Amino acid sequence: MNQTFLPFALPEIGEEEIAEVSNALRSGWVTTGPKTRQFEQAFTEYLGGGLECLAVNSATAGLHLALEALGIGPGDEVITTTLTFTATTEVVRYLGADAVLVDVDPVTLNIDVAQIRAAITPRTKAIMPVHYAGLACPMDEILALARLYGLKVVEDAAHALPTTWGGTLVGQLQSDITVFSFYANKTMTTGEGGMAVTRNPELAKRMKVMRLHGMNRDAFDRFTSKTPAWYYEVVAPGFKYNLTDIASAMGIHQLAKLPRFLLRRQYLAARYFEKLAALPLILPADAPAGDVHSWHLYVIRLSAEAKVTRDQVIQGLSDRGIGTSVHYVPLHRHPYWRDRYRLTPEMFPQADAAYQTMLSIPLFTAMSDADQDRVIVALVEVLA
Ligand SMILES: Cc1ncc(COP(=O)(O)O)c(C=O)c1O
Repeated sequence: MNQTFLPFALPEIGEEEIAEVSNALRSGWVTTGPKTRQFEQAFTEYLGGGLECLAVNSATAGLHLALEALGIGPGDEVITTTLTFTATTEVVRYLGADAVLVDVDPVTLNIDVAQIRAAITPRTKAIMPVHYAGLACPMDEILALARLYGLKVVEDAAHALPTTWGGTLVGQLQSDITVFSFYANKTMTTGEGGMAVTRNPELAKRMKVMRLHGMNRDAFDRFTSKTPAWYYEVVAPGFKYNLTDIASAMGIHQLAKLPRFLLRRQYLAARYFEKLAALPLILPADAPAGDVHSWHLYVIRLSAEAKVTRDQVIQGLSDRGIGTSVHYVPLHRHPYWRDRYRLTPEMFPQADAAYQTMLSIPLFTAMSDADQDRVIVALVEVLA
């Protein structure tokens, strides 16, 4: 192999982020402070009015805060997809509630709404749609179902920045809380980080308090308001989920670059659609006309005509210096979830079949057309 290794994802971090982080470090204010306020305000402006955006140190933290604020607890059930990262469901267990996993739609690989309906019991309290790979779930149906049964909706939008449903940005839909991730491989990054978004002031208030130890004032407020800096009250046993100004410094500039990042991802996705069309592959579902797919991931599946296995394709690409990943080993195949809920692959025929043939190929803004050509040529060779 004489070419450099092409990873499946890489962040694109420019001089603006580096300068702003240096500025944060030099300012002496490195924990949550003015840059985090600025990042939250910019995020609110990006999504549009009527929302409160709370920066947190991961999407996992945001999802935990969301379910806690909604009062999810022991005995409650939360319905979500088996084709997700364990963060979606571990937060349900943090609160002593149970995750009820359901199968996906075979075309979009998003949660199957008919399966949600079938899984509703008197204990069901919430639905957590995951916008898989950056394609929105059918939110009108999910919100209608939630309204009908009096359920809460928390969108796991870790992949979905920016994604639209019916022309509206995810984050602005009528769910209770939406949570974005800024993990290193996401569509924008703060290294680690996330944003919990809600239009409900009561939920925002609870998440704000629980984000920082259950204290009724954060450090920045204590050092900038007229009440004595040392005084605060603990009103609940909260968590340590605040985002640092070092991370927010990155976020401010990553967010400003998001429109350009999206264009690049859309361009690369369109190129894959064109150049991979003749191969024995099932290419990912695109967004409906007029809607935006964030293209966080480009997940291909081998079709029945393929003469090689998924693992052989991964090996073939690896031999050619190309990184891939699999999103995901479905939760029903992980020992903890499998054993706790006595799950079998037969209970999730669509997700399980997709899992066996899927891989995520490189898609990130900093990859060149030549990098992408390498992936395309390698796939042609491996699938020949
Ligand atoms: C679907 C999904 N939900 C939640 C998370 C958790 O995000 P974070 O790493 O920011 O906690 C991820 C992260 O990879 C994810 O892919």
